[in-house]
Amino acid sequence: MTAMSEHFDVHGGARLVGEVEVVGAKNSVLKLMAAALLAEGTTTITNCPQILDVPLMADVLRSVGCEVVLDGDTAKITTPAELSHRADSPAMGKLRASVCVLGPLVGRLKQAVVALPGGDAIGSRPLDMHQNGLRALGATSTIEHGCVVATADHLKGAQIWLDFPSVGATENILMAAVLAEGTTVIDNAAREPEIVDICVMLNQMGAKIEGAGTSTLTVHGVTELHPTEHRVIGDRIVGATWAFAAAMTRGDLTVKGVNPHHLDLVLEKLRMAGAEITTFGESGFRVVQHDRPKAVDFVTLPYPGFATDLQPFAVALSAVSEGTSMITENVYEARFRFIEEMVRLGADARTDGHHAVVRGVERLSSAPVWASDIRAGAGLVLAGLCADGVTEIWDVFHIDRGYPYFVENLNRLGARVERVVGAAERC
Ligand code: UD1
Repeated sequence: MTAMSEHFDVHGGARLVGEVEVVGAKNSVLKLMAAALLAEGTTTITNCPQILDVPLMADVLRSVGCEVVLDGDTAKITTPAELSHRADSPAMGKLRASVCVLGPLVGRLKQAVVALPGGDAIGSRPLDMHQNGLRALGATSTIEHGCVVATADHLKGAQIWLDFPSVGATENILMAAVLAEGTTVIDNAAREPEIVDICVMLNQMGAKIEGAGTSTLTVHGVTELHPTEHRVIGDRIVGATWAFAAAMTRGDLTVKGVNPHHLDLVLEKLRMAGAEITTFGESGFRVVQHDRPKAVDFVTLPYPGFATDLQPFAVALSAVSEGTSMITENVYEARFRFIEEMVRLGADARTDGHHAVVRGVERLSSAPVWASDIRAGAGLVLAGLCADGVTEIWDVFHIDRGYPYFVENLNRLGARVERVVGAAERC
């Protein structure tokens, strides 16, 4: 059986050298766009990455009544006085971040019907903590006909303890709590840089949030927010992808547009693997790798731990390192599916529950492989750069969701990667 599709041909044996600019963070911009629902008027967001999820999120906002103009890296979102509480357009099912309209709609309208989101197939992604947080603020919340339904007479500040520092739940609860009466305290809150980014933007809009970047967020409710202009932080996950690419290809990459402090642990791990790392204030870093990387262990955890989104790169690096690495996945169990594709490329890797043991080999061996999500797809590209021959990577639409101009950047830095359009895929 065959199907028409796009794939990448990745030629092995590249050494990446040069400078690359990282754009705004996907996992921040989409939530900042949702936050624009909280204020009537025009909110401007700059440094938006030119990835498919941004126009998809624009469609979600249009479906509840906003006007959205995307122009290069700028999004202008005009939110009307009267918004619809129903966010159930087809765009909702195409990305995970669409669920972040729930908090702002409940905050502003005291009611919302929000279609269950889509996004990467990386394991079970329940919404219980989002719902429990809204319930603590005085809303009812149920799942009906594929939608989260929430209503409240009014929202009242509350003490909320999260079972796990969920990024999405922290964002939704924050965006409802900013317009609740009184004070909300979110304990065991997520501490990711993207959470700090949204807190900065919400405070610019007139919210009163304290503790951004710590496990305790205190939100003093206000009656109204106003629009603002905000620049999205650089994408630390894309920045880290380039850092791993330099280490794996024994290259020399300078990465600009991302704060290296958001990658402190990642850069330390690469140092342990033998890379020379230089940081440039808050604006970028350089990774130089001379020799074959040495095996390092990785454990994924919420920030400031090693991000689960970077686990495929940890596996790919370990696959070509000298020695044996243990990789532990604590956030999304299904992310180890990536390892099956790595084994096709000759990696010596096996999993046992949420642990993987990877014995490094000198060289991987090209094969056709399939991207199962954004990061797994990018991980396969890096592995292909270290394989003999030409690695075909299929389902590259996943990669396009997170990496603008990836192929162009790779080729500019010394790789040979071709996007092949309309070839027949073996199924
Ligand atoms: C976000 C990121 C994703 C990243 C993840 C963890 C976006 C669009 N996606 O996803 O790339 O991998 O953070 O850093 O920003 N959980 C529950 N109940 C809930 C909510 C979450 O059990 O109500 C669990 C999840 O199944 C998962 C863990 O908590 O095991 C972390 O999820 P969460 O931090 O919420 O991830 P997302 O916000 O969905």
